[in-house]
Amino acid sequence: MKISGYEQVLFQREFRIFVHLMSKRILIKNIRQLVQLRDNAPEKVAGAEMSELPVLEDAWLAIDNGLIADYGSMEEFPGISDWNSLEIIDANEGLVMPAFVDSHTHIVYAGSREGEFVDRIRGLSYEDIAARGGGILNSAKKLRATSEDELYEQAAGRIREVMLLGTGAIEIKSGYGLDMESELKMLRVIHRLKDNFPLNIKATFLGAHAVPVEFKDNKRGYIQHLINDMMPAIAKEQLADYCDVFCERNYFTQEETIEILEAAKKYGMKPRIHANQLSNSGGVQAGVQVGALSVDHLEYVGDEEISALKNSDVMPTLLPGAAFFLGLPYPPARKMIDAGLPVAVASDFNPGSSPSGNMMQMLSLVCVTHKMTPEEAINAATINTAYAMELSNSHGSITRGKAASLIITKPVPSVAYLPYYFGQNMIEQVIINGNIISNSN
Ligand code: NIG
Ligand code: FE
Repeated sequence: MKISGYEQVLFQREFRIFVHLMSKRILIKNIRQLVQLRDNAPEKVAGAEMSELPVLEDAWLAIDNGLIADYGSMEEFPGISDWNSLEIIDANEGLVMPAFVDSHTHIVYAGSREGEFVDRIRGLSYEDIAARGGGILNSAKKLRATSEDELYEQAAGRIREVMLLGTGAIEIKSGYGLDMESELKMLRVIHRLKDNFPLNIKATFLGAHAVPVEFKDNKRGYIQHLINDMMPAIAKEQLADYCDVFCERNYFTQEETIEILEAAKKYGMKPRIHANQLSNSGGVQAGVQVGALSVDHLEYVGDEEISALKNSDVMPTLLPGAAFFLGLPYPPARKMIDAGLPVAVASDFNPGSSPSGNMMQMLSLVCVTHKMTPEEAINAATINTAYAMELSNSHGSITRGKAASLIITKPVPSVAYLPYYFGQNMIEQVIINGNIISNSN
């Protein structure tokens, strides 16, 4: 029997769908818009490309074995009569978008610091509080006194919260231990989280987050301890993918940052930097020099930093939760994008400067305070953060073969509605690597 080209296409398509539905198992139908749909996804988007957010109207999407298997328009909705063991989700006119990739957090911490929050309301600055032993050193004191199991339980609770808020991949830093034993404790907790939760996790060693009290008058000694003792121990247990430094006045200088990150590279830890949060610290230039994956914060960025970032592979990352919560000047996001740079947005979830891992809220913040459009904000929090976490092949867009890590929203009229309706949870369901996330995960 001879079949026409059109029939052949139909047959191949049905067969492809049939094969993946034999092995698994979720079909989402009645999607008002499939958002961030890219058949061939770029690894990042920059400048004017950031305002392009491709969508497919009135769509379905099939998940097979934890991956995005196929998608299409409801007009060509495949017949489902033989699809046994298939779970069908009716999106009911909600949007489907890739889960957020949160490329900068400190989600493993002990206790909380709302006392400092109140101190700041009463007039102290973040730096005043740090100068009297609060801030990062306050968290270090609490963390050192907390057992690994207790620390794990606290962090696991926050992981459950952020998964329900749509985070499908997350970077987590150490940096509240500041001694060998406590830094290893933090990194082991991150490892346990990796083993026990469905989301993708990358671990970052941030021993250079602050100088601990016992090295108060001997910063050089602490840097040597980081490089000569901690890094080999971390590398031996393969506990960290990345190394980060807080490059800031009263913390680590540009030269020290470069020294620490160059050493980390030798132990297989790629660099990233807390840069230019409180001053023009030279952190951005250090990031370009050492080939950092990202430079994060960027409240103090001018023409020099922007031109250093141009023609580099470094992902400039905004942390609007911290800028908002500390009342800092906002980074010149518009200027950076208009200069052709890519920009990413992460939560910086931590107990001092951003006690929130709510990425939808971060979208609202960058739209309102940084003048980024909803399309730019979503690109920044998906495809560009995936780049900053080296997950471009698996995350950040709706693409066949990428991880089925998705958000299904409640019925909303448009993409812009999500950051517009700020502070409300418009997420109906989250799927991470093919797992439907519920309160019991
Ligand atoms: O990213 N800036 C340095 N580190 C964290 C805050 C740490 C803290 O206050 O606990 C940040 O904002
Ligand atoms: Fe941070």
